[in-house]
Amino acid sequence: MSRQYSLFILFLSSSYLVYYQLAAQQLSQSPRLCAFRNNPSQYYPCALDSLGLNSWSFYRCPDETIFDEILQQCSKTALSDLYPSLSSTDDAQLERISNFIVSHPVSDARRLITDFEDPFSIKKFLHERVERAGGIFWSNGQPLMELDEKSIFDSKSSINSKLNYFSYEHPYPPPVSEDELKYKKICYFTNWAQYRSGSAKFEPEHIDPFLCTHIIYAFAYISNETFLIRKVEDNDEDLYRRVNALKKRNPKLKTILGVGGWNMKSYAFSIMVHDSAKRKRFIFDTINFLHKHNFDGFEVDWEYPGIRGGLPDDKYYLTIFFQEFKEAAIAQSIVTGQPRLLMAAAVAANAEVVSNGYEIDKIAKILDFINIMTYDFHGAWQNHTGLNAPLYRRFDETGPEAMLNQVKNENMLMIIGLLRIFFFEDFGVAIWLKSGAPAHKLVLGIPLFARTFLLAHADQNELRSPTIGNGTEGPYTRSAGFLSYFEVCLLQSDPQWTRISVPDGSESEYMYKNRDWIAYDTLSNIQKRAAYVVANNLGGLFVWSLDMDDFNGIFCSNGTYPFIRNSLSLLPANMASYI
Ligand SMILES: *[C@@H]1O[C@H](CO)[C@@H](O)[C@H](O)[C@H]1NC(C)=O
Ligand SMILES: *[C@@H]1O[C@H](CO)[C@@H](O)[C@H](O)[C@H]1NC(C)=O
Ligand SMILES: *[C@@H]1O[C@H](CO)[C@@H](O)[C@H](O)[C@H]1NC(C)=O
Ligand SMILES: *[C@@H]1O[C@H](CO)[C@@H](O)[C@H](O)[C@H]1NC(C)=O
Repeated sequence: MSRQYSLFILFLSSSYLVYYQLAAQQLSQSPRLCAFRNNPSQYYPCALDSLGLNSWSFYRCPDETIFDEILQQCSKTALSDLYPSLSSTDDAQLERISNFIVSHPVSDARRLITDFEDPFSIKKFLHERVERAGGIFWSNGQPLMELDEKSIFDSKSSINSKLNYFSYEHPYPPPVSEDELKYKKICYFTNWAQYRSGSAKFEPEHIDPFLCTHIIYAFAYISNETFLIRKVEDNDEDLYRRVNALKKRNPKLKTILGVGGWNMKSYAFSIMVHDSAKRKRFIFDTINFLHKHNFDGFEVDWEYPGIRGGLPDDKYYLTIFFQEFKEAAIAQSIVTGQPRLLMAAAVAANAEVVSNGYEIDKIAKILDFINIMTYDFHGAWQNHTGLNAPLYRRFDETGPEAMLNQVKNENMLMIIGLLRIFFFEDFGVAIWLKSGAPAHKLVLGIPLFARTFLLAHADQNELRSPTIGNGTEGPYTRSAGFLSYFEVCLLQSDPQWTRISVPDGSESEYMYKNRDWIAYDTLSNIQKRAAYVVANNLGGLFVWSLDMDDFNGIFCSNGTYPFIRNSLSLLPANMASYI
């Protein structure tokens, strides 16, 4: 290389450095913020225009708001704009929110209310207090309902709470937090794994608090009699305490209480959401319950709205329920100054269940994230073998079978893609995306379990071979048709099992021995799923469930939590973008 040339390179790089330093200086001196043209709900320091944008420079406005460059803040902070259904003529909803607050006059609020005889002056006073605190929620001081002695505000009640996202006073909107930019790595804890024998017995102390970003406690129920939240196991309260104690070791960990699950069915959910008084009682009671036990959020795991004991119009009432729950959670957060409770749902991936069960576009606006249960696509309830959690459709799958997959096959040729638009319906994650759910709220599920079958004939052992029932139950999970990941490891130490990888899109494996046939996933399969999450800007991965991994590291000889550790770590540290 000539000397001249290297000098030139030196000149280029040093001038770039000088330029960069100047720009960085400019950045620190004038922190003016610009709305991102392609998506005005995001903004960035304007100085970066000259530096070049990268995805880490972006901040995000709260949901439903956009960045106003003149005001230099996220605008449309009024509640009526946050919720389009709350137009200025719709005072009822605003009133409901304020009533969530004032119908529980305890501590501060109680004193305030008893200080004033005239309801109008109460209202005015509260209005002023809250306006000073930056909020807009107090519109009506008249409580609509009375609820025993319970209150959602009994802890650290303070009217002068910080209002964060909903404040008019903040000079700058809060940037999207570091935590929000991270992929969600969600792990379910089950309150029944404590009953397993020997080294499969699973207790909260087995959880590594740094393995996941969120832990969902499965499950609480809704009572068939009172229609309020209720515990399921005798020692649930002790387990709540022990799970939530993990936050002392990792303060960033979020814990969420899941309500429902397969065994609860639909009856109590359906009755509760259909009746406005029951809904209100449930919401108050549950918010109390969550705070009492130190949870950060609530997950609805209703399997499934509209079926299994539900009513055909469940989905409309489910939306109302979510809306009201969020309003109450916002109100509670404003009054107590505590962070708003997170709200999530675990939902079906099956097209028919989805279309009967959810108003996707509406609930996706309300919820913080949505766990799509992308597994159980095949099992011994059918009369042929099939994969538990195939990723893409295989080429030989047609008709309804073609829809029993997690995602559409994006790898196909364009022409096939076009044909598919006309001839195939959407399935799995694609239904949710197409119906308006923002990708960054969708979380793809990974089963830490296998589905097992009993073959009709030992020599017919391929995909779609006839079956006559459940495979043999596992020694620890003791449930026919089903094995945990660590039990699959245990079986695999026996060389008589034949293992077959299904490469053409499914990205799964199966294995068989005599008439036992088992469909399961491997780490290399999971790599493709993690890649799909990243490529499609999904919100993350969840695993069902912690106790079914080799949490002690004794069955798979690959350390503790080999599956969760190795699969969740495939997600990069941060999401590239929210766009
Ligand atoms: C009541 O709840 C249980 C679960 O706790 C469920 O199995 C049962 O079917 C429910 N009863 C009715 C009438 O649906
Ligand atoms: C399997 O079940 C389907 C209906 O669910 C039926 O049409 C088919 O004949 C069955 N096959 C066998 C081998 O039993
Ligand atoms: C398979 O096992 C489940 C319980 O795990 C049971 O409900 C079902 O009836 C069994 N199926 C057959 C065909 O035996
Ligand atoms: C064991 O763990 C390592 C990473 O720690 C991983 O690369 C490897 O694939 C795992 N082996 C198996 C058989 O899962």
